[in-house]
Amino acid sequence: RQMYHYGNFSQNFLWGVSSSAYQIEGAWREDGKGLSIWDKFTHTPGKISEHDTGDVACNSYNKMEDDIAALKKVKVSHYRFSISWPRILPDGTTKYINQAGLNYYKKLLDSLIAANIEPQVTLYHWDLPQALQDVGGWENETIIERFKEYADVLFENLGPKVKLWITFNEPFVITVLGHVQGAHAPGLNDRPDTLPYIVGHNIIKSHAEAWHVYNDKYRASQGGLVSITVNSDWAEPRNPYKQEDYEAARNVFYLGWWAHPIFNGDYSPLVKKSVLDQSLAGGLTKSRLPEFTPEEIKRINGTYDYFGLNHYCSVLAFPVDFGTTQHFEADSDRTWLETGSVWLRMTPFGLRRLLKFIKDEYRNPPIIITENGVSENGPVDLNDVHRKYYYEKYINQVLKAYLLDDVNIIGYTAWSLLDNLEWGVGYTERFGLFYVNRTDPDLPRTPKASVSYYSSIISCNGFPDPASGPQECWNPTPTIRLIAAHFRFLRQHWDIVINWMSPESEYIIQLQ
Ligand code: GAL
Repeated sequence: RQMYHYGNFSQNFLWGVSSSAYQIEGAWREDGKGLSIWDKFTHTPGKISEHDTGDVACNSYNKMEDDIAALKKVKVSHYRFSISWPRILPDGTTKYINQAGLNYYKKLLDSLIAANIEPQVTLYHWDLPQALQDVGGWENETIIERFKEYADVLFENLGPKVKLWITFNEPFVITVLGHVQGAHAPGLNDRPDTLPYIVGHNIIKSHAEAWHVYNDKYRASQGGLVSITVNSDWAEPRNPYKQEDYEAARNVFYLGWWAHPIFNGDYSPLVKKSVLDQSLAGGLTKSRLPEFTPEEIKRINGTYDYFGLNHYCSVLAFPVDFGTTQHFEADSDRTWLETGSVWLRMTPFGLRRLLKFIKDEYRNPPIIITENGVSENGPVDLNDVHRKYYYEKYINQVLKAYLLDDVNIIGYTAWSLLDNLEWGVGYTERFGLFYVNRTDPDLPRTPKASVSYYSSIISCNGFPDPASGPQECWNPTPTIRLIAAHFRFLRQHWDIVINWMSPESEYIIQLQ
């Protein structure tokens, strides 16, 4: 668990950073963009810390060059960003397609490609057009058709420039934070017993339809990959020697709710049983979890081209007696680790275990980690040692999963490029590799110390063994570069060097 591992990732490993439209774009009413549920939510008093909004955010809509320069500095091979649905379809439907919105994303894609950075595009990172929420949002099953049409517009117009797509970012957060706790838009918390399952059901079907549109109409000509990103903490039994804690850890609803229908077919027996048992305990005659028809199970099963995973931390699991309560939380065992920063605690070992779990549970799919990162709050300190530590430890666990557990991991994406609007807590929590000075109207981006650290890992494609001498890729300061160049020269031209040397140098040769 604690040991450090040296080695490299696969040759074409994808190294990236991630962002999302509402968190960085700003320009909330520019060029014909419609309103999203997050525009409405942030403008509702009391919903967001410090009354922050995404009206301006990092102004990435108008500062594309700065973002590309930042990406180049990190030396990423890919950049994950999301499309604002209401920027393309202001009322959520294809009645009117906003060309200015499409042009913005076309320009962004062209700039990325020109910088040799592969785009990975998320269709839905939480900013539903408000007009669709007004007719029920994810609760209304007509949303499936709307999402399919939206996906079609994007594949047709942007698809020639994109090889990696993600349909949904974190369906768990959409359902639970948005429709159980009400902490996220659309802020619903009045039916925690049934609403998350209805919303989740429609999201899974919408994902599947978008995947089929791509598969049927675009895959042959565009040759890209389409998948979904699910988020999961690792659930560690509080006491690994206690059967109940072990079972509680298996009964945490993160991955299976989404991944089982998509990767294995239908809701998992475990999810079905938990919701059914709790429903019956509350006197209901049937489960609150909707059922897929056999045709739907077939249509959803296999709608993935890779496994998109967001991961931040682990939780300790043990059984909690909820009695007969009819509430999502009572269906799923889950207990947060105590933590200073509310939900995020550094637990790198959990990532390796989670990756191995995905390998075993979903038949060894190619996995791209689409988010992983850590925040700070309070005074600004560009020397973000805690973030360097976090990336070092977590990425090293990913390396172990790859080299020691044979997990088919093909990419890693740090969250996030910039300090941005961190949803309900506004700008108070900062996840960025780049600090954005919000007191300067120009919103300049300044690299934190973690930028050069992460970019060293990228340049080395992993963690070089120090025993093999100083590495140019690892710490690219001019002095090290010089020493490393000499060292490399010596290694490459050893025979020549030996001939040049006097007999006394045998001692050095033996050492080598
Ligand atoms: C994820 C989300 C991101 C970001 C991150 C850090 O759940 O996808 O948008 O906010 O958490 O909290």
